[in-house]
Amino acid sequence: MMTPSNVKATLSFSDGSPAMELPLYKGSIGPDVIDIRKLYAQTGKFTYDPGFLSTASCNSTITYIDGDKGELLYRGYPIEQLAVHCDFLDTCYLLLYGDLPNAQQQKEFHKLVTNHTMVNEQMQFFLRGFRRDAHPMAVMTGLVGALSAFYHDSTDINNPTHREIAAIRLIAKMPTLVAMAYKYGVGQPYMYPQNNLSYSANFMRMMFATPCEPYEPNDVLVRAIDRIFILHADHEQNASTSTVRLCGSSGTNPFAAIAAGVACLWGPAHGGANEAALNMLEDIQRAGGVEKIGEFIRQVKDKNSNVKLMGFGHRVYKNYDPRAKLMRETCHEVLTALGLGNDPLFKLAMALEKIALEDEYFVARKLYPNVDFYSGIVQRAIGIPVSLFTAIFALARTVGWIAQLNEMIGDPEYKIGRPRQLYAGAPRRDVQPIAQRA
Ligand code: SDX
Repeated sequence: MMTPSNVKATLSFSDGSPAMELPLYKGSIGPDVIDIRKLYAQTGKFTYDPGFLSTASCNSTITYIDGDKGELLYRGYPIEQLAVHCDFLDTCYLLLYGDLPNAQQQKEFHKLVTNHTMVNEQMQFFLRGFRRDAHPMAVMTGLVGALSAFYHDSTDINNPTHREIAAIRLIAKMPTLVAMAYKYGVGQPYMYPQNNLSYSANFMRMMFATPCEPYEPNDVLVRAIDRIFILHADHEQNASTSTVRLCGSSGTNPFAAIAAGVACLWGPAHGGANEAALNMLEDIQRAGGVEKIGEFIRQVKDKNSNVKLMGFGHRVYKNYDPRAKLMRETCHEVLTALGLGNDPLFKLAMALEKIALEDEYFVARKLYPNVDFYSGIVQRAIGIPVSLFTAIFALARTVGWIAQLNEMIGDPEYKIGRPRQLYAGAPRRDVQPIAQRA
């Protein structure tokens, strides 16, 4: 709930330009906001905030992050409790509708999602346009955008029922599409969804089963992938969610807006970090393992090396990412269950984390492990190929993207997003005949 604060901000200018009073608004928790919506009209000036470090782009009730405390709440529930007491579909229900389902609601929601897991048979022919070695995120950007071709005419973004159906379709079909992208890459036949399995067990079966023999999902691995989905489901106004909001604000259909989010998430500074973090650990391992960490850290500290400690640091968390703690626990559980407790990469990751957390360079910059640092090790242990890590992240984040998109579209005050700029280019000048150009 956004409520007017009794505190006002006054903006004055040293050149004597007229001062301006700016209202403040309070949320339910977290920083207040200064309402600058009338600033340009009254002063002819813009604010300047590249990267939006001090900008609230919207008023949302979905997810709250306290970067200093290392706190993450989905609709007020701490991620630590959701990851232990709920499954991913409960989390989807919570993010979409604002509260956890009761037994009847849970049953109906699971049935609804299960009955939308198949994709149009034409989708398999769309995949054939890709090289077999295409990066799965290139395939996913194409496939999710292509869903628009099947539903564009039956999705009026301004119709709440259509928005809800699109949400269910996206949540239900992402596992099928990710598994198809994987099977296409390894040259195996696609596995159809199995409606008698849970959401995450069904995903594991579509990924790893073949028509040649029965497949029995491993409960520990199913629970681990389900927890990975929960931890990645939403995260306030991160780069890809802001992309989805801005894209959706034009009134485009939800499938196109989510495809934009998939494309943005691919970047190594964002969702691509889990793939980059695992590749970094494997590089250190190949170079000699734990005894090479010191040399690697020196490279990271050398600005000219352009080497970053992937899986560390965060725009908001200036404390330990609560998801990283849960991911490290899951890592330990999975590796122990698989008899990989001595996995050298996990040991290397823990050694790297310990050294980084004691090193002044990282402490001074408040660089802690984020969700991506351990998720790659868990996914590798589950059997997920490194190149598919970010597609798994996109699968999980789809519910957050669609919940945030629907919240924006459902707000009668929303407008198409259209930021301005500080122009520092050439002032007006006339075209000269080519003979007179320098
Ligand atoms: C995700 O926003 C979200 O919520 C994202 C996400 C989500 O769920 O949606 O949480 C998912 O994207 C997690 C982040 C995954 N990315 C990585 O792990 C890539 C490595 N991390 C960095 O690229 C970086 O930390 C960012 C991009 C995550 C955050 O960058 P910021 O906030 O812009 O921080 P910064 O670049 O201003 O860093 C401050 C200082 C700088 O040094 P100085 O110029 O002050 O000397 O810390 C340094 C940076 O050079 N720094 C790092 C570092 N991250 C920041 N140095 C080495 N290794 C790193 N990883």
